[in-house]
Amino acid sequence: MKLCNQVALITGAGNGIGRGIAQILAKEGATVIIATIVKEEGEQTVSDICKEGGNAYFIQTDVSSEKSIIDMTKKVNEQFGTIHTLVNNAGITVFKSIEEATIEDWNKVINTNLRGMYFVTKHALPLLKQNKKSSIINISSNHSKCTIADSEMYTATKTGINGMTRAMAISLGKYGIRVNAICPGFTNTSHHQQWIREQGAPEEIEKKVLDLHAADRICTPADIGKLALYLASDDSEMMTGSELLIDGGATSYLFHTTFESDEILTKTTDF
Ligand SMILES: NC(=O)c1ccc[n+]([C@@H]2O[C@H](COP(=O)([O-])OP(=O)(O)OC[C@H]3O[C@@H](n4cnc5c(N)ncnc54)[C@H](O)[C@@H]3O)[C@@H](O)[C@H]2O)c1
Repeated sequence: MKLCNQVALITGAGNGIGRGIAQILAKEGATVIIATIVKEEGEQTVSDICKEGGNAYFIQTDVSSEKSIIDMTKKVNEQFGTIHTLVNNAGITVFKSIEEATIEDWNKVINTNLRGMYFVTKHALPLLKQNKKSSIINISSNHSKCTIADSEMYTATKTGINGMTRAMAISLGKYGIRVNAICPGFTNTSHHQQWIREQGAPEEIEKKVLDLHAADRICTPADIGKLALYLASDDSEMMTGSELLIDGGATSYLFHTTFESDEILTKTTDF
C-alpha cells in the first residue's frame, strides 16, 4: 500500500469526485478525513469506507467560512497531529450570463472554489509541515483550459486555482510540500447527472458529450482518484506546480464551438 500510516484531508468528499478520491486513498492505507458541508453525505462516505476496511472520519466543514476551516483544522490537529495529503476538492458550479449574475453569485462561487482553497491550505499548513514530504492536490477543471459562454465566474475560479497552484508550489517547496492541480473534464457525478437532466434533451446532450471523448466514455470519480493517488504518492516525487488534464480527450477536440452553437450547453446551471 502506497499511503500506509498517512493522513489525507479531502474537502467536499461527501459526494462525487471527492468521495472517489477518498475511497482510493483509503484503499492505499491512508486515514481519510472527510471535510464536507452536508452531514448525511459525510457520514455515508465514512460508513462506506469503513465497511471496506478503511479508516475514515467526518468533520463537518464549510470551506467558504474561515471560522469553519479553523475549527476543522483544530480538530484534525487534536486527533491526528499531521496531514500528509490535502485534497482541495470542494467546489460549486454556477453558470449564468453576465446580465443575469449577481454579486451574491460571484461571492458564493469565489468564496467556495477559490478563497476556500486558499484558506484551507493556510490553516492546514502547520500540519503539512510536520512531515518531510507532503502533497497538496487542487481540483481545478478543464474549464481552466477552454470554456463555454456564461461560465465567467466558474472559469475565473478554476483558472485562478491553476495560478495559485503554481505560486504555492514555489512558496512551499522549501518545506518539502508539492502542489499540483488536477483538471477533470466531464465526470460522472450526481452533480453532472443533474446538469444533464436540466438540459432540454438529456439523451441528445448525453450523446453529444460522449461524441467529444476519444476514450468513448466520460471520467468516473475513480479515474480522478487514481490520478490523485499518483500525486499523493512518492511516484510523483518530481511533480510540483503541474496542471494535469484528465478528460478522455474532450479538451483536444477542435470543434467545441459547433457543439456550443446548438445552444444546448449555454443553459443556466446553478448547483
Ligand atoms: N463533475 C464534473 O464533471 C467536474 C468536472 C471538472 C471539475 N469538477 C470539480 O470537481 C470538484 C467536485 O465536483 P463534483 O462533481 O464531485 O461535485 P459534487 O456536487 O458531486 O460534490 C461536491 C461536494 O462538495 C460539497 N460542498 C459544496 N460546497 C461546500 C462547502 N462550502 N464546503 C464543503 N463542502 C462543500 C458538496 O456537499 C458535495 O459533497 C469541484 O471542485 C468541481 O468544480 C467537477
